[in-house]
Amino acid sequence: MAKRLIVANWKMNPPTFAEAKEIAEATKKAAARAPGVSVVICPPVIYLRELAKNSRGGVSFGVQDIFYEERGAYTGEISSFMVKNAGADFAIIGHSERRERGEASAVIAKKVAAALDAKLAPVLCIGERARDALGEYLSVVRTQLTEGLADIPPGAIAKVAIAYEPVWAIGKKAQDAIAPRDLHEMAIFIRKVLTERLERAKALKVTILYGGAVESDNAHRLLHDGDVDGFLVGHASLDKKDFPLIIRAVAS
Ligand code: PGA
Repeated sequence: MAKRLIVANWKMNPPTFAEAKEIAEATKKAAARAPGVSVVICPPVIYLRELAKNSRGGVSFGVQDIFYEERGAYTGEISSFMVKNAGADFAIIGHSERRERGEASAVIAKKVAAALDAKLAPVLCIGERARDALGEYLSVVRTQLTEGLADIPPGAIAKVAIAYEPVWAIGKKAQDAIAPRDLHEMAIFIRKVLTERLERAKALKVTILYGGAVESDNAHRLLHDGDVDGFLVGHASLDKKDFPLIIRAVAS
């Protein structure tokens, strides 16, 4: 995995494949001008195969979720092997919008393992719903991180990217994102928790992303002062003007 990583989480957007193609094209062009950065598009899964087929390098593709079983009577679910075969190399797992609708830690842990089984790089999302003066949010983050990695042997943890996404910042404007100083503190905390499973040198190498109100206005400062390896970007990843600027900010 390249050290600088930007993952575009399109969520349930855009409504038509024609628009999806346009956004993917603009993203690809920007990625071509940022050779040190890996850019991953996670579209709705119905667009995946066609977008990946037309892409011919430049960007990679991922999905926003997978199911943990390989096959069988699981109506509506899609396996990690199916999306791998359709062109995905990454899988977002445990996004707060899924946790909010009932996805539990034990399920998330199984999905991380299933992604690795299919040679998908899991992007494990963690993050507190709110901050409090006593630092309770730190134990929320610790629990989500350790439970999400519970089924993964230490040797495989380096293949997982950790996306720290405070729920209170998701979907907001740039000025409502986390302060770079607070992000830096959280990145240190996450690495510290990782040292409970990994040697220090290995924990330092785990890719940590930030997500929540990343726009071109705050990308550069969050990356450098926050000391993270890249971003998980929601609404701005659908913006044909702003997303290329975020890619450029991460490249510089
Ligand atoms: P946002 O979403 O960039 O729109 O805040 C991030 C996410 O939910 O992954």
